[in-house]
Amino acid sequence: MAKSDTYIFALKYDGLTPLYDPLLRWVMGEEKFKRRLIDQAQIRLGHRVLDLGCGTGTLTIRIKQMHPEADVVGLDGDTGVLAIARAKTASIGVSIGFVQGLAFQLPYPDAAFDRVLSSLVFHHLTTDNKIKTLRECFRVLKPGGELHIADFGKPFNTYTNLLAPVMEKAEEVSANIQGLLPQMMLESGFTQVAEPAHYTTIFGGLSLYRARKLG
Ligand SMILES: C[S@@+](CC[C@H](N)C(=O)[O-])C[C@H]1O[C@@H](n2cnc3c(N)ncnc32)[C@H](O)[C@@H]1O
Repeated sequence: MAKSDTYIFALKYDGLTPLYDPLLRWVMGEEKFKRRLIDQAQIRLGHRVLDLGCGTGTLTIRIKQMHPEADVVGLDGDTGVLAIARAKTASIGVSIGFVQGLAFQLPYPDAAFDRVLSSLVFHHLTTDNKIKTLRECFRVLKPGGELHIADFGKPFNTYTNLLAPVMEKAEEVSANIQGLLPQMMLESGFTQVAEPAHYTTIFGGLSLYRARKLG
């Protein structure tokens, strides 16, 4: 897709994409929080699961490996990361559909998924697009379906408080750091919004959120 003011690539600059997987693995400790996100989603037999902003497919693949009985789809706006995701999937031999699309304009009918998971995507979206995306998540979830997000959130210790002023400078990150995502989820129709876990990472405090569409 074409670059635009409102689109931020995985590592901000398209040319840095090949460095994304090593950075996430070695610097962010992604394995721990992504496994925790999948655990909290309580995916069941026959569930249809969307990984929103799947990037290079690490979370998508992990979901499928932990829940081979689920129908798992990954969506991202960037064809470059999707090519990496497809190559990784082919080399491992798991079946996942990867689709190009925008988070705030999902190419799915209403009530298409039981779970939407999303890792490190909301801090790429402007405040307006965060709200549009949450509404889209609500729309494509079935009644009783759940949204599970891992992203930068409100600081919760000395280190994350120290980083907050730097992170808040970017409009896309600011609402995350102010802890506004839960309120936005409620305003988008979700209930039972919770933050079951948080992690300190080198880049700041990462929050795991859960929200439910009433059945
Ligand atoms: C930091 S990466 C996270 C990738 C993956 N979820 C992970 O945890 O490794 C953010 C991803 O969001 C995607 N993205 C950003 N804005 C988007 C939008 N409006 N619609 C769809 N994908 C978007 C980027 O292309 C990038 O792959």
